[in-house]
Amino acid sequence: MEILGIDRINGEIKIPGDKSISHRSAMISAILDKPVKIKNYLFSSDCIATLEVLKDLGVDIAGNSSELVIKGCGISGLSEPRRILDVGNSGTAIRLLSGILAGNPVMSVLSGDSSINRRPMARIIEPLKQMGARVYGRNNSKYAPLVIFGTRDLRGKRFDPGLSSAQVKSCILLAALHAEGVTEIRQPGTSRDHTERMLEYLGASIEYDGMNTRIDPSKKLAAKDIHIPADISSALFFIVAALILKDSNITIKDVGINPTRSYALDVLRSMGADIEIRNRRTVCNEPVADIEASSSSLKPAEIDRDMIPNIIDEIPILSVAASAAPGKTVFRGAQELRHKESDRLKAISGQFARAGVDIKELADGLEINGKKDFKLRSCTTLDSMGDHRIAMSLAVLAMPSKKKVTILDDDCINTSLPGFKELFYSACR
Ligand code: S3P
Repeated sequence: MEILGIDRINGEIKIPGDKSISHRSAMISAILDKPVKIKNYLFSSDCIATLEVLKDLGVDIAGNSSELVIKGCGISGLSEPRRILDVGNSGTAIRLLSGILAGNPVMSVLSGDSSINRRPMARIIEPLKQMGARVYGRNNSKYAPLVIFGTRDLRGKRFDPGLSSAQVKSCILLAALHAEGVTEIRQPGTSRDHTERMLEYLGASIEYDGMNTRIDPSKKLAAKDIHIPADISSALFFIVAALILKDSNITIKDVGINPTRSYALDVLRSMGADIEIRNRRTVCNEPVADIEASSSSLKPAEIDRDMIPNIIDEIPILSVAASAAPGKTVFRGAQELRHKESDRLKAISGQFARAGVDIKELADGLEINGKKDFKLRSCTTLDSMGDHRIAMSLAVLAMPSKKKVTILDDDCINTSLPGFKELFYSACR
C-alpha cells in the first residue's frame, strides 16, 4: 500500500461491522436450534474463517454481509468435521470455537497460520480440561494445532484466571453453556463483555460486572436476530487520522461504544481530542452512537495500567496519536501485546523509530516522546510485520508526510478491515 497526498479527511464514513461481535454472533447462532438473521456481519478474512469452520461442523449458512442467515445445530449438535479446521489468523476464532467444541461429542483438529500457531493456548486448554474435555496442543499443550475430544459431560466450575482476557473468558463461557452446573469466572480486571451481552440478549441466565461473570446453563437460549454495530477499533484509525491531520472533520455512524471497548476515546479526549459522541442508543444489548472527530492539538496521555485490557487493540493507533502529542506518553502493563498477531511492542517500537518517532520499547510497554506536527523521516518503506493493526497504524502515521511511503505486507489488513484504503481515499477532500 502506498500512502501519498492524504493531508486532510472529511465527510461521513461507513465502517464495517465489529469483528469481536461478528465472531460471537456466528458461533452462538451455530448452537441455537432456530435460524438467526445477522445484519452487518464483518466479511473480513478472520470472520470468514469462522463461517467456514462452522460450515465444516454442519452449520447451514447463507446470505451476505447485509444479511446472513445461520441455521444452527442446537447445543452439542455439531457434526464431526472431515478435515482440519482452519482459523487462519484469528485468535478469537480458535479460542472461542475451542470452548464450543469441548462440549460437542466429536473429535476435531484446529489449526491456523504461522502466527496463530505461535500464540499461547495453554490459557484455554487448562480450563477446558478442568471442565472435563480432552484438549491437547503442540509442545506439551502450549500451542496450536489443537486436538479436541469433546464430550456431553462437561462440568461447570469456578475459575480465577490470573489474566484479564475476553478470549479466555468467552471460551469458558461457551463451554459452560454445554456443561452441567454453574460456572463462575473471576478475572483480575475488566475485559470486553460482548459474549456476556449477547448471551443476556438471547435470554441466558448470566450475571456480570466486567470482572466477575456467573452463568447458569439450565436456561435455554432463544434465537433472536442480531444487528452488529460498526467496529470501534476500525473507526479509531479514521478518528486518529482526523485528529492529527489539518482541516479535518469526519463522522462515523452506528459505532459500537461498549465501555469495555471505547476507552480509547476517553484516552484521546484526555489528550485534548475534539471528539463528539451523539445519538447514543442500545442495539441488541450493545451501546451504539455516532462519533464526530476534528483536527486537534494533542497533548500526551496518562495511561493507567488497569485500563490496558480495554485498549489492548488500540495501543498501536494510540501510539500514533502520542507521536503527534508533544511530550511523553508511557504505556505500562501491556506485555500481553507480545502475544498478538505480532509482537506488537517490538513492531510498534521498531517501525515507529524507523519513521523517526522518538520511541523506546519497554519490557511491558512503550515510551513515546511526541512532537507537534510530527512528519515522517526520510524512510520510504515501513513493514506491517504481517499484522493488520500495525499496517493500518503505520498508514495513519505516514499520512501527514508529503513523501510517498510504502507499507509492506499490507494484505493482512483484510483480517479486520477490507476496503481500508478505499475508505480513506473516499474521505480525502
Ligand atoms: C478479543 C479479545 C482481545 C483482543 C482481540 C479480540 C475478542 O484479546 O485483543 O483482538 O474478540 O474477545 P484478549 O481478550 O485475549 O486480550
